[in-house]
Amino acid sequence: MRIGARLHFFHSKTELGKAGSRAPDPHAVTREQLDRARVLQDLSSNNDVSLRQLQDGRRVVVKVGAEVVDAESALILEAETLKEDVVHRIGLLVGRAFAPKPTILVSPSGARSTLVTPEIDTGRSAHGYQEAFHTLGDTAQARSLLGKYHRDGLSVFDFIVGHGDRHDAWGSRAKDSSARMKNVLVDRDGGLHSIDHEAAFGKPPFAEVSEAAVRDFFKGRDAHRTFRATDLKRLIDDTYLPLVGGDHRELDKLYRFAGIDSHGVERRAREVLKQYEALLADDARRLHPTPPARRRFPGFGRA
Ligand SMILES: Nc1ncnc2c1ncn2[C@@H]1O[C@H](COP(=O)(O)OP(=O)(O)O)[C@@H](O)[C@H]1O
Ligand SMILES: [Mg+2]
Repeated sequence: MRIGARLHFFHSKTELGKAGSRAPDPHAVTREQLDRARVLQDLSSNNDVSLRQLQDGRRVVVKVGAEVVDAESALILEAETLKEDVVHRIGLLVGRAFAPKPTILVSPSGARSTLVTPEIDTGRSAHGYQEAFHTLGDTAQARSLLGKYHRDGLSVFDFIVGHGDRHDAWGSRAKDSSARMKNVLVDRDGGLHSIDHEAAFGKPPFAEVSEAAVRDFFKGRDAHRTFRATDLKRLIDDTYLPLVGGDHRELDKLYRFAGIDSHGVERRAREVLKQYEALLADDARRLHPTPPARRRFPGFGRA
């Protein structure tokens, strides 16, 4: 990455935080609020992640990124953190908050970015270092959660955004093993939520999605229409271009370093759309079967 990118990078930060929010955002968190927050629990053994309570009572999860010294590394880390915002917005296209709404705060020097998300209420007294599926082990409950996941729109979301940190890499059964599911939280109502998207926009964790999951993904009002009208490659590129001063060659470079394949996301979105539209066509055929063609007897019925 060229050093000049630094300027665009730092310039863009203020805009990024406000991206798309014209009305006051009730989830927004400021640096000052965070500084005055009380730490309730450390949440990660290898990263600086903690559950904190703001003075206004809100509970948030704060993930502090590594501090970097050069502009290139800062840019790459920023790009990875920004994935959280993009995946959240992709969910919103179909009216779903698969991923919690993030606030991204950048240190005054620009060398460190902090991710803040509202706490997902899992009903547990404390969050584990490892996510729900992990801690359940290979039990009936975990297997039933895995089945739920494969019928839930979340698995389609994963497929489209290419959630790169959904399954542990270890073990040949990784894909099918409930004990190896990561970064899925189950809320009090049994709803599934996705976290930890630094490795998104790569290869999806599985090659296809179930019919039930596709139907679930598009169950929201107008979800299909809105999704169809959106070019996800463009959405992603438009998010990242300001970071590199609108330079497409620099964008390609940034994508290589940050592991972003915007083409792949758009391609998979189209695949899923096609699958859904085929299902709609099937449904329509079932509801309105074509009447069998009448047999014609030439000569009869004529005067
Ligand atoms: N929004 C959230 N609500 C509740 N718990 C969270 C949230 N975000 C993260 N956690 C908890 O913090 C842990 C670490 O967060 P994560 O983003 O996965 O960081 P790491 O990169 O260390 O895996 C998760 O396993 C989960 O238990
Ligand atoms: Mg994680």
